[in-house]
Amino acid sequence: MTRYDGVDLRLNVAHSARMYDYYLGGFTNFAADREAAGHVLATAPWVRTAARANRSFMHRSTRALARAGIDQFIDIGTGIPTSPNLHEVAQGIRPRARVVYADNDPIVLTHALALLTSTPEGRTAYVEADVTDPVALLAAPGLCETIDLTRPVALSLNALLHFVPDAQGAHELVDHLKSVLAPGSALVMSHLTADFDPEEIGRVVGIYQAAGTAVQARSHGEFARFFDGWDLLAPGIVPTVDWRPRADEPPVPASAAAGYAGVALRP
Ligand SMILES: C[S@@+](CC[C@H](N)C(=O)[O-])C[C@H]1O[C@@H](n2cnc3c(N)ncnc32)[C@H](O)[C@@H]1O
Repeated sequence: MTRYDGVDLRLNVAHSARMYDYYLGGFTNFAADREAAGHVLATAPWVRTAARANRSFMHRSTRALARAGIDQFIDIGTGIPTSPNLHEVAQGIRPRARVVYADNDPIVLTHALALLTSTPEGRTAYVEADVTDPVALLAAPGLCETIDLTRPVALSLNALLHFVPDAQGAHELVDHLKSVLAPGSALVMSHLTADFDPEEIGRVVGIYQAAGTAVQARSHGEFARFFDGWDLLAPGIVPTVDWRPRADEPPVPASAAAGYAGVALRP
């Protein structure tokens, strides 16, 4: 058993954060993660491209919101640090930006120092928290001391909610998080869908489930519900790769379109 600060890191069990790190070519993954991720890649080799495209959506949406004036960010389901991290993108435009990261995987905590490299005028914090308990997450001292909830915040839940099935209250927890954010705040989300290739996504979901991680792909309509009551920014809810693609980035093949993304503002 590998422990960190008294916490069992459960390195013998595949974990979504470390599998994602493996798809991205990172080094914070272990035999069980590589075995499960290898099964996924054997079924769906485009997953590596989709993971990179998902990171690229985070860069583009963060830049767009920072340029629009937002200088506070909460990123839940942060993942293992991968340069550039969200604060580096946001502070590249707004050096005073404040960023709070949250994840429930202890291995992300062990790498949190890479997320705490704020500009001197800005601030970053890391909170170990579970999105399924939004009340505790919002009450965490690291969040309360860093973010002023009376001012607009960009809340990102990227590639996270497909790990929270309906039975765990995915829509209710997002509604709760939305309810505490000030007008002008933004909700940024990307999410796995089976709309484009139900059979292949069914196999991928099965591999995660066999490795002990519940996954629920959602349809366009189910994903759109997360944004109810808020104003979607153009181009609306689209395949992740089609959310304001940059001309200087290589085009992503349509075969890697297995996720939706959207950004909405609280009126
Ligand atoms: C696929 S990674 C996405 C990382 C990053 N958001 C991105 O889009 O590049 C999913 C992350 O969500 C985290 N996660 C999964 N379930 C969670 C939960 N219930 N609460 C908080 N974090 C969770 C995992 O530990 C992992 O770091």
